[in-house]
Amino acid sequence: MLRHIILINNMNLKTPQRKERICFKGAVQINRNSFFVYEDEVGKTFLKNGGDKKLEKSVVKKMIENNPCISRLLKRYKIRPSIDTKTLNELTGGHMNDTCNIAMGVYSILSDKIKKQVDKDSLKEASMLHDLGKILIPSKILNKPKKLNFKERRIMNIHSTLGYELLKKQNINPETLSLIKYHHQNLKHSGYPALSMNDTSSDVGVQIISIADKYSALREARVYRRALTRIESLLILYREVREGKILPEVFNALVKYAEKYDN
Ligand SMILES: [Fe+2]
Ligand SMILES: [Fe+2]
Repeated sequence: MLRHIILINNMNLKTPQRKERICFKGAVQINRNSFFVYEDEVGKTFLKNGGDKKLEKSVVKKMIENNPCISRLLKRYKIRPSIDTKTLNELTGGHMNDTCNIAMGVYSILSDKIKKQVDKDSLKEASMLHDLGKILIPSKILNKPKKLNFKERRIMNIHSTLGYELLKKQNINPETLSLIKYHHQNLKHSGYPALSMNDTSSDVGVQIISIADKYSALREARVYRRALTRIESLLILYREVREGKILPEVFNALVKYAEKYDN
């Protein structure tokens, strides 16, 4: 029986990926009573019932307390988490849903040989939850209307590790966790966080979630810039193909996806 949810609602979708309605229902169980729910209709139902913000915060606090790695990270970067679930919903509800739709679209276009290297369910789940760590990033950094300075960028860049740590003890499969952790990594391994020896994340999976994340972000308006056009966004990503950071096959699949669904 659901007594509480942390809601990631998908109702503020603005980007054209909406045209492709890959129906994705899901919930990640956080503990006996708590779930992350990420599906439009479920989200709406719970919104109607009204969310209990205090409960949401207490669950996240517990997730932090249960994991000393998070406390250490927050201390090291001098972050006092605001646990701003409202900001998270506003900022990333649509983005995470769009990233999931694009990732699934790109996956469906790839050849069977490449598909075999990726676990589709993990890719779906990870792309829907990839920016969860932003829940712990101070909102003055998340919402800053200008470019982040060096110190702020360092703090922002730990959101993928924070998301991984938040979900690590929640009975989620290791491939999903790995994709969440490395969604800002690239083929040259010059992204963040650095890969450790024990990590066995599939390069192709990381490539798909990463390109979907970037394309979704480029196509969205941000406080400091307008939404880029489809062509502008693809050109930026093509530069990364030439730099050896993105697999050409994955980029080609994105181009096909964008031509069909984002025009
Ligand atoms: Fe991210
Ligand atoms: Fe993202």
